[in-house]
Amino acid sequence: GIMSENTITFTIDDVDVQAKPGQTILEAADAVGIYIPRLCALEGLSPFGSCRLCTVKVNGRFQSACTQPVGQDIIVESETEEINNIRRGIVEMLFVEGNHYCMFCEKSGNCELQAMAYRLGIAAPRYPYLFPNDRNIDGSHPDIFIDHNRCILCARCVRASRELDGKNVFQFVGRGPEKRIAVNAEAN
Ligand code: FES
Repeated sequence: GIMSENTITFTIDDVDVQAKPGQTILEAADAVGIYIPRLCALEGLSPFGSCRLCTVKVNGRFQSACTQPVGQDIIVESETEEINNIRRGIVEMLFVEGNHYCMFCEKSGNCELQAMAYRLGIAAPRYPYLFPNDRNIDGSHPDIFIDHNRCILCARCVRASRELDGKNVFQFVGRGPEKRIAVNAEAN
């Protein structure tokens, strides 16, 4: 055929997509200019699969596009009301679980979380704000300032430091609601 045998073809929202074996659905979508929402995924870092913003349906089953590999003839749904409702719920939970004071935040207007909320049409979350008051700001490190109020545990910093600069500066500590990013004490 005209297409190489190493091309995988499938559809995203009824659009034909060609991909390379081993690509994730998210990578294949990016390569052809189809945007699938994401927060923890970042080009150049290994997939982490934690935020679930990239939820799509693959042959009728929910999957994370950033971790799910492409497959021949799979049918991917992304921009449906059902899926965007799920994404909306995830972003709303992130807002109520943390302390995201966009109006007073210096990153306002340059923030992926805020932009995602706008994209999904979130005016005010449906859930009550939890206003956790045990979120510290950690300024105890000479070069690093961690505001746990804003952290959504996407692990981009963990992966970037491990995979790009090899310094392993950040790690997770604690479990469940106590889970936090911390500066790895052994890193220098
Ligand atoms: Fe896929 Fe976060 S972008 S789980």
